[in-house]
Amino acid sequence: MAKFVVVSSSLGCSEDKLNEGWQLKTADDSQQLPALVEDAQLCVVDSNSAGNTESKSKMFALLAEKNIHSLVVVRDPADYPLLKPFISERLEAYPAELLDQLYGRVSSLCTALSAEEQLTEMQNQLVRSEKMAALGQLAAGVAHEINNPLGFISSNMNLLGRYSSMIRDEMTSLEEFLAKEETGMAVLQYNIWKSESKFTQCMEDVDEVIEESKDGLVRMREIVRDLKEYTHIGNQSFEATDINKLLNSTVNLLRNEIKYKANVNFDLEEVGVIDAIPSQLSQVFVNIIMNACQAIEDFGDLTIATEASGDSVEISIKDTGTGIEKEQLEKVFEPFFTTKPVGKGTGIGLAITRSIVERHAGSIRVYSMVGEGTTFVVRLPIHQQQTDEASVEFE
Ligand SMILES: Nc1ncnc2c1ncn2[C@@H]1O[C@H](COP(=O)(O)OP(=O)(O)OP(=O)(O)O)[C@@H](O)[C@H]1O
Ligand SMILES: [Mg+2]
Repeated sequence: MAKFVVVSSSLGCSEDKLNEGWQLKTADDSQQLPALVEDAQLCVVDSNSAGNTESKSKMFALLAEKNIHSLVVVRDPADYPLLKPFISERLEAYPAELLDQLYGRVSSLCTALSAEEQLTEMQNQLVRSEKMAALGQLAAGVAHEINNPLGFISSNMNLLGRYSSMIRDEMTSLEEFLAKEETGMAVLQYNIWKSESKFTQCMEDVDEVIEESKDGLVRMREIVRDLKEYTHIGNQSFEATDINKLLNSTVNLLRNEIKYKANVNFDLEEVGVIDAIPSQLSQVFVNIIMNACQAIEDFGDLTIATEASGDSVEISIKDTGTGIEKEQLEKVFEPFFTTKPVGKGTGIGLAITRSIVERHAGSIRVYSMVGEGTTFVVRLPIHQQQTDEASVEFE
Protein backbone atom coordinates (compact mmCIF):
# COMPACT_ATOMS: atom_id res chain seq x y z
CA MET A 1 0.00 0.00 0.00
CA ALA A 2 1.25 3.48 -0.83
CA LYS A 3 2.76 5.35 2.06
CA PHE A 4 1.69 8.92 1.80
CA VAL A 5 2.87 11.69 4.10
CA VAL A 6 1.22 15.06 4.55
CA VAL A 7 3.17 17.77 6.33
CA SER A 8 0.58 20.39 7.07
CA SER A 9 -1.36 21.71 10.02
CA SER A 10 -4.27 22.98 7.94
CA LEU A 11 -4.63 19.82 5.88
CA GLY A 12 -4.32 17.77 9.03
CA CYS A 13 -7.87 18.58 10.10
CA SER A 14 -9.22 16.79 7.05
CA GLU A 15 -7.84 13.46 8.09
CA ASP A 16 -11.13 11.73 7.33
CA LYS A 17 -10.67 12.60 3.67
CA LEU A 18 -7.56 10.53 3.44
CA ASN A 19 -7.88 6.99 2.25
CA GLU A 20 -7.05 4.10 4.48
CA GLY A 21 -3.34 3.34 4.43
CA TRP A 22 -2.20 6.93 3.89
CA GLN A 23 -0.17 8.30 6.68
CA LEU A 24 -1.12 11.72 7.88
CA LYS A 25 1.51 13.74 9.68
CA THR A 26 0.93 17.27 10.89
CA ALA A 27 3.33 20.20 10.85
CA ASP A 28 4.61 19.40 14.31
CA ASP A 29 6.17 16.32 12.85
CA SER A 30 8.28 18.20 10.35
CA GLN A 31 11.25 17.96 12.69
CA GLN A 32 11.12 14.21 12.38
CA LEU A 33 10.62 14.34 8.63
CA PRO A 34 13.58 12.13 7.71
CA ALA A 35 12.03 9.28 9.66
CA LEU A 36 8.53 10.06 8.40
CA VAL A 37 9.31 10.08 4.73
CA GLU A 38 11.36 6.92 4.87
CA ASP A 39 9.73 4.60 2.27
CA ALA A 40 7.10 7.22 1.39
CA GLN A 41 6.05 7.36 -2.24
CA LEU A 42 4.37 10.69 -2.06
CA CYS A 43 4.75 13.64 0.26
CA VAL A 44 2.40 16.62 0.43
CA VAL A 45 3.95 19.66 2.08
CA ASP A 46 2.25 22.84 3.14
CA SER A 47 5.01 25.41 3.02
CA ASN A 48 3.28 27.40 5.77
CA SER A 49 3.54 24.54 8.18
CA ALA A 50 6.93 23.26 7.30
CA GLY A 51 8.98 25.09 9.91
CA ASN A 52 11.63 27.77 9.43
CA THR A 53 13.67 28.36 6.30
CA GLU A 54 16.42 26.04 7.37
CA SER A 55 14.16 23.13 8.18
CA LYS A 56 12.25 23.73 4.94
CA SER A 57 15.33 23.55 2.82
CA LYS A 58 16.53 20.44 4.67
CA MET A 59 13.18 18.83 4.14
CA PHE A 60 13.08 19.52 0.43
CA ALA A 61 16.69 18.49 -0.07
CA LEU A 62 15.79 15.21 1.59
CA LEU A 63 12.73 14.69 -0.59
CA ALA A 64 14.80 15.36 -3.69
CA GLU A 65 17.62 13.12 -2.52
CA LYS A 66 15.26 10.25 -1.79
CA ASN A 67 13.46 10.86 -5.05
CA ILE A 68 10.14 11.13 -3.29
CA HIS A 69 7.38 12.61 -5.33
CA SER A 70 6.33 15.81 -3.57
CA LEU A 71 3.24 17.92 -3.86
CA VAL A 72 3.84 21.34 -2.37
CA VAL A 73 1.31 23.91 -1.27
CA VAL A 74 3.09 27.28 -1.46
CA ARG A 75 1.31 29.98 0.54
CA ASP A 76 4.04 32.51 1.05
CA PRO A 77 5.37 33.80 -2.29
CA ALA A 78 8.70 34.42 -0.56
CA ASP A 79 9.04 30.72 -0.18
CA TYR A 80 8.75 29.98 -3.83
CA PRO A 81 12.35 30.74 -4.94
CA LEU A 82 13.63 28.69 -2.04
CA LEU A 83 11.43 25.72 -2.74
CA LYS A 84 11.42 25.84 -6.53
CA PRO A 85 14.38 23.52 -7.14
CA PHE A 86 12.72 20.77 -5.13
CA ILE A 87 9.13 21.17 -6.20
CA SER A 88 7.86 18.64 -8.63
CA GLU A 89 4.26 19.83 -8.43
CA ARG A 90 3.22 23.31 -7.36
CA LEU A 91 -0.22 24.35 -6.27
CA GLU A 92 -1.10 27.93 -5.59
CA ALA A 93 -2.14 29.07 -2.19
CA TYR A 94 -5.94 29.16 -1.94
CA PRO A 95 -6.46 26.69 0.86
CA ALA A 96 -10.26 26.49 0.81
CA GLU A 97 -10.69 25.72 -2.90
CA LEU A 98 -7.39 24.03 -3.02
CA LEU A 99 -8.27 21.12 -0.82
CA ASP A 100 -10.63 19.35 -3.23
CA GLN A 101 -8.24 19.87 -6.08
CA LEU A 102 -5.39 18.64 -3.93
CA TYR A 103 -7.19 15.52 -2.75
CA GLY A 104 -8.30 14.75 -6.29
CA ARG A 105 -4.71 15.03 -7.45
CA VAL A 106 -3.40 12.98 -4.55
CA SER A 107 -6.05 10.31 -5.10
CA SER A 108 -5.14 9.84 -8.73
CA LEU A 109 -1.44 9.73 -7.91
CA CYS A 110 -2.09 7.18 -5.22
CA THR A 111 -4.23 5.07 -7.55
CA ALA A 112 -1.37 5.10 -10.05
CA LEU A 113 1.09 4.17 -7.33
CA SER A 114 -1.06 1.36 -6.04
CA ALA A 115 -1.57 0.02 -9.61
CA GLU A 116 2.19 0.04 -9.96
CA GLU A 117 2.52 -1.80 -6.66
CA GLN A 118 -0.06 -4.38 -7.69
CA LEU A 119 1.81 -4.96 -10.94
CA THR A 120 5.09 -5.47 -9.08
CA GLU A 121 3.38 -7.82 -6.65
CA MET A 122 1.86 -9.80 -9.55
CA GLN A 123 5.26 -10.02 -11.21
CA ASN A 124 6.82 -11.26 -7.96
CA GLN A 125 4.01 -13.77 -7.53
CA LEU A 126 4.56 -15.03 -11.08
CA VAL A 127 8.28 -15.45 -10.56
CA ARG A 128 7.59 -17.20 -7.28
CA SER A 129 5.02 -19.57 -8.73
CA GLU A 130 7.32 -20.40 -11.65
CA LYS A 131 10.12 -21.14 -9.21
CA MET A 132 7.75 -23.21 -7.08
CA ALA A 133 6.53 -25.14 -10.11
CA ALA A 134 10.12 -25.90 -11.17
CA LEU A 135 10.98 -26.90 -7.65
CA GLY A 136 7.82 -28.99 -7.44
CA GLN A 137 8.81 -30.93 -10.57
CA LEU A 138 12.29 -31.46 -9.23
CA ALA A 139 10.98 -32.58 -5.87
CA ALA A 140 8.48 -34.96 -7.49
CA GLY A 141 11.30 -36.47 -9.57
CA VAL A 142 13.56 -36.84 -6.55
CA ALA A 143 10.77 -38.35 -4.44
CA HIS A 144 9.95 -40.83 -7.18
CA GLU A 145 13.58 -41.81 -7.80
CA ILE A 146 14.39 -42.19 -4.13
CA ASN A 147 11.30 -44.23 -3.38
CA ASN A 148 12.45 -47.41 -5.18
CA PRO A 149 15.94 -47.75 -3.70
CA LEU A 150 14.44 -46.77 -0.36
CA GLY A 151 12.07 -49.72 -0.65
CA PHE A 152 14.75 -52.31 -1.31
CA ILE A 153 17.22 -50.83 1.19
CA SER A 154 14.50 -51.07 3.84
CA SER A 155 13.70 -54.69 3.05
CA ASN A 156 17.42 -55.57 2.86
CA MET A 157 17.94 -53.94 6.21
CA ASN A 158 15.16 -56.06 7.71
CA LEU A 159 16.71 -59.13 6.11
CA LEU A 160 20.14 -58.22 7.56
CA GLY A 161 18.55 -57.86 10.98
CA ARG A 162 16.99 -61.32 10.64
CA TYR A 163 20.29 -62.83 9.40
CA SER A 164 22.16 -61.28 12.29
CA SER A 165 19.84 -62.89 14.84
CA MET A 166 20.00 -66.20 12.91
CA ILE A 167 23.83 -66.12 13.11
CA ARG A 168 23.57 -65.49 16.83
CA ASP A 169 21.18 -68.44 17.26
CA GLU A 170 23.50 -70.68 15.20
CA MET A 171 26.44 -69.66 17.39
CA THR A 172 24.45 -70.53 20.51
CA SER A 173 23.60 -73.97 19.11
CA LEU A 174 27.26 -74.47 18.12
CA GLU A 175 28.38 -73.61 21.63
CA GLU A 176 25.80 -75.99 23.10
CA PHE A 177 26.97 -78.71 20.71
CA LEU A 178 30.65 -78.17 21.56
CA ALA A 179 29.89 -78.24 25.28
CA LYS A 180 28.81 -81.86 24.79
CA GLU A 181 32.22 -82.80 23.22
CA GLU A 182 33.99 -85.32 25.39
CA THR A 183 37.66 -84.47 24.75
CA GLY A 184 37.12 -80.75 25.27
CA MET A 185 39.73 -80.00 22.56
CA ALA A 186 37.23 -78.51 20.18
CA VAL A 187 35.80 -76.35 22.99
CA LEU A 188 39.28 -75.14 23.85
CA GLN A 189 40.09 -74.27 20.25
CA TYR A 190 36.72 -72.62 19.79
CA ASN A 191 37.21 -70.46 22.90
CA ILE A 192 40.70 -69.43 21.74
CA TRP A 193 39.29 -68.46 18.34
CA LYS A 194 36.42 -66.59 19.97
CA SER A 195 38.65 -64.55 22.25
CA GLU A 196 41.17 -63.75 19.48
CA SER A 197 38.70 -62.93 16.72
CA LYS A 198 36.57 -59.81 16.63
CA PHE A 199 33.48 -61.84 15.99
CA THR A 200 31.59 -61.04 19.19
CA GLN A 201 32.29 -57.32 19.00
CA CYS A 202 31.28 -57.27 15.33
CA MET A 203 28.02 -59.01 16.10
CA GLU A 204 27.25 -56.42 18.77
CA ASP A 205 28.08 -53.55 16.40
CA VAL A 206 26.04 -55.06 13.58
CA ASP A 207 22.84 -54.74 15.61
CA GLU A 208 23.55 -51.12 16.49
CA VAL A 209 24.41 -50.26 12.89
CA ILE A 210 21.23 -51.89 11.64
CA GLU A 211 19.10 -50.00 14.17
CA GLU A 212 20.69 -46.65 13.27
CA SER A 213 20.23 -47.32 9.57
CA LYS A 214 16.58 -48.17 10.15
CA ASP A 215 16.09 -44.82 11.95
CA GLY A 216 17.71 -43.07 9.00
CA LEU A 217 15.41 -44.90 6.62
CA VAL A 218 12.33 -43.86 8.60
CA ARG A 219 13.49 -40.22 8.36
CA MET A 220 14.08 -40.60 4.61
CA ARG A 221 10.62 -42.05 4.16
CA GLU A 222 9.16 -39.05 6.00
CA ILE A 223 11.07 -36.68 3.73
CA VAL A 224 9.83 -38.47 0.61
CA ARG A 225 6.29 -38.35 1.99
CA ASP A 226 6.66 -34.60 2.63
CA LEU A 227 8.03 -34.02 -0.87
CA LYS A 228 5.08 -35.90 -2.36
CA GLU A 229 2.74 -33.80 -0.29
CA TYR A 230 4.53 -30.67 -1.43
CA THR A 231 4.11 -31.60 -5.07
CA HIS A 232 0.36 -32.10 -4.62
CA ILE A 233 0.39 -35.82 -5.22
CA GLY A 234 -2.87 -37.23 -3.97
CA ASN A 235 -6.49 -36.87 -4.73
CA GLN A 236 -8.54 -35.36 -1.99
CA SER A 237 -11.79 -33.56 -2.03
CA PHE A 238 -13.19 -30.43 -0.48
CA GLU A 239 -15.91 -31.00 2.08
CA ALA A 240 -17.79 -28.99 4.70
CA THR A 241 -15.22 -28.79 7.48
CA ASP A 242 -15.73 -27.66 11.05
CA ILE A 243 -12.55 -25.67 11.71
CA ASN A 244 -12.90 -25.57 15.50
CA LYS A 245 -13.40 -29.33 15.65
CA LEU A 246 -10.44 -29.88 13.35
CA LEU A 247 -8.23 -27.69 15.56
CA ASN A 248 -9.33 -29.61 18.65
CA SER A 249 -8.65 -32.98 17.08
CA THR A 250 -5.25 -31.84 15.75
CA VAL A 251 -4.25 -30.69 19.23
CA ASN A 252 -5.41 -34.05 20.63
CA LEU A 253 -3.34 -35.81 17.99
CA LEU A 254 -0.27 -33.85 19.08
CA ARG A 255 -1.00 -34.15 22.80
CA ASN A 256 2.26 -35.98 23.49
CA GLU A 257 4.37 -33.42 21.63
CA ILE A 258 2.64 -30.46 23.29
CA LYS A 259 2.23 -31.52 26.90
CA TYR A 260 5.87 -31.03 27.94
CA LYS A 261 6.20 -27.75 26.04
CA ALA A 262 3.10 -25.60 26.46
CA ASN A 263 -0.31 -24.89 27.93
CA VAL A 264 -2.87 -24.70 25.17
CA ASN A 265 -5.43 -21.88 25.37
CA PHE A 266 -8.34 -21.95 22.96
CA ASP A 267 -10.16 -18.77 22.03
CA LEU A 268 -12.58 -20.13 19.44
CA GLU A 269 -15.37 -18.10 17.95
CA GLU A 270 -18.39 -19.91 16.48
CA VAL A 271 -17.15 -19.86 12.86
CA GLY A 272 -19.20 -22.77 11.48
CA VAL A 273 -18.05 -24.89 8.56
CA ILE A 274 -15.95 -23.98 5.53
CA ASP A 275 -15.12 -25.76 2.25
CA ALA A 276 -11.78 -27.45 2.87
CA ILE A 277 -9.77 -30.63 2.55
CA PRO A 278 -9.66 -31.64 6.24
CA SER A 279 -6.61 -33.93 6.11
CA GLN A 280 -4.59 -31.20 4.42
CA LEU A 281 -5.73 -28.44 6.78
CA SER A 282 -4.87 -30.67 9.68
CA GLN A 283 -1.38 -30.95 8.18
CA VAL A 284 -1.22 -27.12 8.15
CA PHE A 285 -2.07 -26.96 11.86
CA VAL A 286 0.30 -29.83 12.70
CA ASN A 287 3.20 -28.05 10.96
CA ILE A 288 2.55 -24.72 12.69
CA ILE A 289 1.98 -26.27 16.13
CA MET A 290 5.06 -28.53 15.85
CA ASN A 291 7.20 -25.51 14.96
CA ALA A 292 5.72 -23.60 17.90
CA CYS A 293 6.58 -26.43 20.32
CA GLN A 294 10.09 -26.66 18.88
CA ALA A 295 10.54 -22.90 19.34
CA ILE A 296 9.61 -22.94 23.02
CA GLU A 297 12.75 -23.45 25.07
CA ASP A 298 11.37 -24.64 28.42
CA PHE A 299 7.64 -24.30 28.85
CA GLY A 300 5.31 -21.71 27.37
CA ASP A 301 1.87 -20.88 26.03
CA LEU A 302 0.15 -21.76 22.82
CA THR A 303 -2.94 -19.72 21.99
CA ILE A 304 -5.21 -20.94 19.23
CA ALA A 305 -7.97 -18.59 18.12
CA THR A 306 -10.57 -18.51 15.37
CA GLU A 307 -12.52 -15.54 14.15
CA ALA A 308 -15.12 -15.00 11.43
CA SER A 309 -14.16 -12.16 9.13
CA GLY A 310 -16.62 -11.39 6.30
CA ASP A 311 -16.54 -14.25 3.81
CA SER A 312 -13.43 -15.73 5.42
CA VAL A 313 -12.30 -17.36 8.61
CA GLU A 314 -9.08 -16.44 10.40
CA ILE A 315 -7.16 -18.94 12.45
CA SER A 316 -4.28 -17.66 14.55
CA ILE A 317 -1.73 -19.79 16.36
CA LYS A 318 0.46 -17.88 18.76
CA ASP A 319 3.41 -19.17 20.74
CA THR A 320 5.72 -17.76 23.38
CA GLY A 321 8.82 -19.26 21.75
CA THR A 322 12.14 -17.75 20.76
CA GLY A 323 10.68 -15.69 17.91
CA ILE A 324 12.12 -15.20 14.42
CA GLU A 325 14.77 -12.66 13.40
CA LYS A 326 13.46 -9.95 11.07
CA GLU A 327 15.76 -10.98 8.21
CA GLN A 328 14.56 -14.57 8.45
CA LEU A 329 10.88 -13.76 8.62
CA GLU A 330 10.36 -13.64 4.87
CA LYS A 331 12.37 -16.80 4.31
CA VAL A 332 10.42 -19.14 6.57
CA PHE A 333 8.02 -20.19 3.80
CA GLU A 334 10.84 -20.95 1.37
CA PRO A 335 11.34 -24.65 0.74
CA PHE A 336 14.34 -26.07 2.60
CA PHE A 337 14.87 -22.97 4.76
CA THR A 338 15.59 -24.24 8.25
CA THR A 339 17.49 -23.09 11.33
CA LYS A 340 17.29 -26.54 12.90
CA PRO A 341 20.20 -28.96 13.05
CA VAL A 342 20.59 -31.64 10.40
CA GLY A 343 18.22 -34.47 11.14
CA LYS A 344 15.86 -32.21 13.14
CA GLY A 345 14.43 -30.05 10.37
CA THR A 346 14.16 -30.24 6.60
CA GLY A 347 12.69 -26.80 6.14
CA ILE A 348 9.76 -28.08 4.16
CA GLY A 349 6.97 -27.83 6.79
CA LEU A 350 5.99 -24.21 6.12
CA ALA A 351 6.47 -24.52 2.34
CA ILE A 352 3.90 -27.34 2.39
CA THR A 353 1.73 -25.27 4.70
CA ARG A 354 1.71 -22.32 2.32
CA SER A 355 1.07 -24.50 -0.71
CA ILE A 356 -1.95 -26.12 1.04
CA VAL A 357 -3.31 -22.74 2.14
CA GLU A 358 -2.94 -21.38 -1.40
CA ARG A 359 -4.72 -24.48 -2.74
CA HIS A 360 -7.58 -23.41 -0.49
CA ALA A 361 -7.41 -19.91 -2.03
CA GLY A 362 -6.36 -18.58 1.37
CA SER A 363 -3.38 -16.67 2.71
CA ILE A 364 -0.91 -17.07 5.55
CA ARG A 365 0.96 -14.37 7.46
CA VAL A 366 3.53 -14.48 10.20
CA TYR A 367 4.30 -11.95 12.95
CA SER A 368 7.19 -12.40 15.30
CA MET A 369 9.25 -10.66 17.94
CA VAL A 370 12.53 -12.15 19.03
CA GLY A 371 12.33 -13.19 22.68
CA GLU A 372 8.54 -12.81 22.78
CA GLY A 373 7.08 -15.29 20.33
CA THR A 374 5.49 -15.86 16.97
CA THR A 375 1.98 -15.79 15.56
CA PHE A 376 0.87 -17.45 12.34
CA VAL A 377 -2.44 -16.25 10.91
CA VAL A 378 -4.17 -18.38 8.30
CA ARG A 379 -7.07 -16.83 6.42
CA LEU A 380 -9.39 -19.18 4.51
CA PRO A 381 -12.44 -18.40 2.40
CA ILE A 382 -15.69 -19.97 3.65
CA HIS A 383 -16.65 -21.06 0.14
CA GLN A 384 -14.45 -22.35 -2.65
CA GLN A 385 -14.99 -21.04 -6.16
CA GLN A 386 -15.65 -24.24 -8.12
CA THR A 387 -19.37 -24.62 -8.68
CA ASP A 388 -20.24 -27.74 -10.68
CA GLU A 389 -17.68 -30.13 -9.27
CA ALA A 390 -17.90 -31.56 -5.81
CA SER A 391 -14.23 -32.44 -5.68
CA VAL A 392 -10.96 -31.26 -7.07
CA GLU A 393 -8.17 -33.50 -8.29
CA PHE A 394 -4.51 -32.71 -8.01
CA GLU A 395 -2.23 -34.32 -10.60
N1 LIG B 1 6.85 -20.73 15.68
C1 LIG B 1 8.11 -20.52 15.29
N2 LIG B 1 8.99 -19.89 16.11
C2 LIG B 1 10.28 -19.67 15.72
N3 LIG B 1 10.78 -20.02 14.52
C3 LIG B 1 9.95 -20.64 13.66
C4 LIG B 1 8.59 -20.92 13.99
N4 LIG B 1 8.02 -21.52 12.92
C5 LIG B 1 8.98 -21.62 11.98
N5 LIG B 1 10.13 -21.11 12.42
C6 LIG B 1 11.40 -20.98 11.65
O1 LIG B 1 11.12 -21.29 10.29
C7 LIG B 1 11.98 -22.33 9.83
C8 LIG B 1 11.25 -23.12 8.76
O2 LIG B 1 10.17 -23.84 9.33
P1 LIG B 1 9.68 -25.16 8.61
O3 LIG B 1 8.56 -25.74 9.40
O4 LIG B 1 9.43 -24.87 7.17
O5 LIG B 1 10.97 -26.10 8.65
P2 LIG B 1 11.60 -26.87 9.90
O6 LIG B 1 10.66 -26.85 11.07
O7 LIG B 1 12.95 -26.30 10.10
O8 LIG B 1 11.74 -28.35 9.32
P3 LIG B 1 10.53 -29.38 9.00
O9 LIG B 1 10.65 -29.66 7.54
O10 LIG B 1 10.82 -30.55 9.85
O11 LIG B 1 9.24 -28.71 9.35
C9 LIG B 1 12.35 -23.11 11.08
O12 LIG B 1 13.57 -23.80 10.94
C10 LIG B 1 12.45 -21.98 12.12
O13 LIG B 1 13.69 -21.32 12.01
MG1 LIG C 1 8.64 -27.41 10.83
